[in-house]
Amino acid sequence: MGILETIKSRRSVRTFEELPLRPEDAKKILEFVIRVENPYDIPITWKLLDAKKDGLSSPVVVGTDTFIAGKMSRVPHAEEAFGYTFEKAVLFAEELGIGTTWIAGTMNRDAFEKAMDVSEGEVMPCVSPLGYPAKKMSLRESMMRKGVKADSRLPLGEISFEGSFDKPMTEDAAGEEFNLIEAVRYAPSAVNKQPWRVVLCRDADGCRAHFYEKKSRGYNDGKWDIQKIDMGIALCHFELAAKEAGRNPSFEISDPGFITPNDTSYVASFRI
Ligand SMILES: Cc1cc2nc3c(=O)[nH]c(=O)nc-3n(C[C@H](O)[C@H](O)[C@H](O)COP(=O)(O)O)c2cc1C
Repeated sequence: MGILETIKSRRSVRTFEELPLRPEDAKKILEFVIRVENPYDIPITWKLLDAKKDGLSSPVVVGTDTFIAGKMSRVPHAEEAFGYTFEKAVLFAEELGIGTTWIAGTMNRDAFEKAMDVSEGEVMPCVSPLGYPAKKMSLRESMMRKGVKADSRLPLGEISFEGSFDKPMTEDAAGEEFNLIEAVRYAPSAVNKQPWRVVLCRDADGCRAHFYEKKSRGYNDGKWDIQKIDMGIALCHFELAAKEAGRNPSFEISDPGFITPNDTSYVASFRI
């Protein structure tokens, strides 16, 4: 399966078969994520956790006791670095037939942080259950999905623009970059808010994709911005799709200084 298909077929899994995760599958995921590098070069420590042993729970998860979690220093860009790295593990798990759900809120956080030994100055942004997806979702899971319209995504012209924010992207205008933007469009995000905006610029110098965050109210307390995790996920998807398309994406933080809509701020760019 190509990466775009994996991205499109992934969904959050909260209801699992009552089968313990095979130790070799858990090991594959841990070994994979430990090796993932992020464009911000921020180290992240990963651990597999056993819910029974550590008293962990999530009110939305049924059928598995295995979780994966990461912690890191609370430094600038920690959110994007975490989003980028964890999403690679999420997609790797998907390829192995293992279900995941990004969880930032619905868990007994104190117990998870204790199990992760999170110290002063560190943060454990999210965790995920790992297991084999059940054929049927729990009622709570299907209601939750309806509540956040988890099966739908914003249209192309709302998240992507040609050269400047006043020119919504169309499929025709996206041309060779269409699949790269589609990969962003399908990404998971907290409460399915999809804060990513991408301005695509083509000139004699080549093609650049500038990523912006459209901030929703209530997701940023000035110290931590969960929607920047979503931005990291979007960067991960774009880069993977670009590589699959035979491009050579290079990451940069270089604000082109465009006029932006309200509550929208520059995050990073890819030269492709
Ligand atoms: C940063 C982040 C945090 C999330 N936190 C939670 C959470 O606490 N509980 C939960 O059930 N889902 C959580 N989700 C999952 C989203 O609700 C889900 O990705 C979104 O609704 C889209 O659905 P999909 O993943 O099935 O495509 C989170 C997702 C992200 C990216």
